[in-house]
Amino acid sequence: MKLKILFLVFLFAYSSFIVHGQPTAAKEKLARTQWFRDARFGMFIHFGIYSMHGRGEWVRSIEKISNEQYQPYVDAFNPTEYNPKEWAKLAKEAGMKYVVMTTKHHDGFCLFDSKLTDYKSTNTPIKRDLIKEYVEAFRAEGIRIGFYYSLLDWHHPDYPKFNDSNHPMRGNEKFKDEKINFDNYLKYMHGQVRELMSNYGKIDILWTDFSYGEMTGTKWKAKELVEMIHQLQPAIIMNNRLGGDGTTYIKDQAYGDFESPEQGVPDAKLSDKDNIDVPWETCLTLNNSWGYNMHDNNWKSPELIIQTLVNCVSKNGNLLLNVGPDPKGNIPQASIQILKEVGKWTRANGESIYGCGEAIGLTRQDWGRFTQKGNKLYAHYMYPKIGPITLKNYQEKIKTVRMLANGAEASVADEWWGSPKSAGLYFINFNKPIHETYPMPDKIDTVFEIELK
Ligand code: GLC
Repeated sequence: MKLKILFLVFLFAYSSFIVHGQPTAAKEKLARTQWFRDARFGMFIHFGIYSMHGRGEWVRSIEKISNEQYQPYVDAFNPTEYNPKEWAKLAKEAGMKYVVMTTKHHDGFCLFDSKLTDYKSTNTPIKRDLIKEYVEAFRAEGIRIGFYYSLLDWHHPDYPKFNDSNHPMRGNEKFKDEKINFDNYLKYMHGQVRELMSNYGKIDILWTDFSYGEMTGTKWKAKELVEMIHQLQPAIIMNNRLGGDGTTYIKDQAYGDFESPEQGVPDAKLSDKDNIDVPWETCLTLNNSWGYNMHDNNWKSPELIIQTLVNCVSKNGNLLLNVGPDPKGNIPQASIQILKEVGKWTRANGESIYGCGEAIGLTRQDWGRFTQKGNKLYAHYMYPKIGPITLKNYQEKIKTVRMLANGAEASVADEWWGSPKSAGLYFINFNKPIHETYPMPDKIDTVFEIELK
């Protein structure tokens, strides 16, 4: 009897852990991020006053530019060629399914018509709520909408300066004994997020940036902030940059739905301590700058972008690819060219990206990557290799192998170099005759769709 009671107590405790504990929270995040994990590819946009300097969005901090020195640029801000409809068309052409744009970057300048400040685009010569236009333009193309919002603010009087590690006025004696009321800033910051969550219809992603040192989690009053956000936008998903309070295991997931590695792709998929998948998104620049940088012509090739996208998807991740429009509001030609090339590939091979994720049991290959969606496996042949590719223990499972872009059937070899198929190896032979080697039809990534029985 005692044992029975003990067992029941244990069962109750365990089931309430499953309901209220980490595994449930992690599974809820997976459910909430379903559309995001299917979308896989998005556009990041960094645009603001700093675009006028042409030296990237950190120019104020790096060059220790004061508010007064920055003001003439604010007074002159006039991106007359700002036309987010064109950007939205370009994103669509590239195969991007969602977008995230800076509503306010670290410099504190707002591209939206905030009632809480005068420091905004409606008060400059352009006189327009640029965020409103952005939302309408991308929504019209069926692209999901995201807002980037900077937690840092180098313009607000109540943001720490002298001792802050990033502020343009760090170490400046003038601010050494300045008294600030950080709660005022928090009120302002929460208020602006409330505006963004209230005035632009359904928002799909809130992308806050970033936490550092003590400026993380509770310091931002993150719990209250997230509660308010969820109240106003129940379906929204958030990155992890509000930070945690040291309570979480996979970096800082306390207040977010997905991890946000920057300028790099993790070696493997991300999972938590309970082995549940963690959604993630690599954000990446096309050159080496987020905001417009006229000196940075270090453009990545379309090949590298496509291979990076495939690399992300093969590990259950997304790619958020950045453009930095110039002061007039034009996306640089070099970026447009790359995105168009990427678009040619995604148009022909999108089925191997959208709704796809890791191919279980088939990790990195020396010739490329696998992705999978249901009973379709996709072999991404990206790196030159001599001879056929092999799949172990797939012999009985494969129905057809076709080139995804045009449906042409790939030949299968019975044996190669003395290894017969019966040894459990299945040879997909891209070269015919088998002992000759030809370049792949798509030099960037030839995708073979392998339909499983
Ligand atoms: C960093 C930078 C910021 C940029 C962001 C994009 O946090 O501070 O300028 O917007 O990365 O991920």
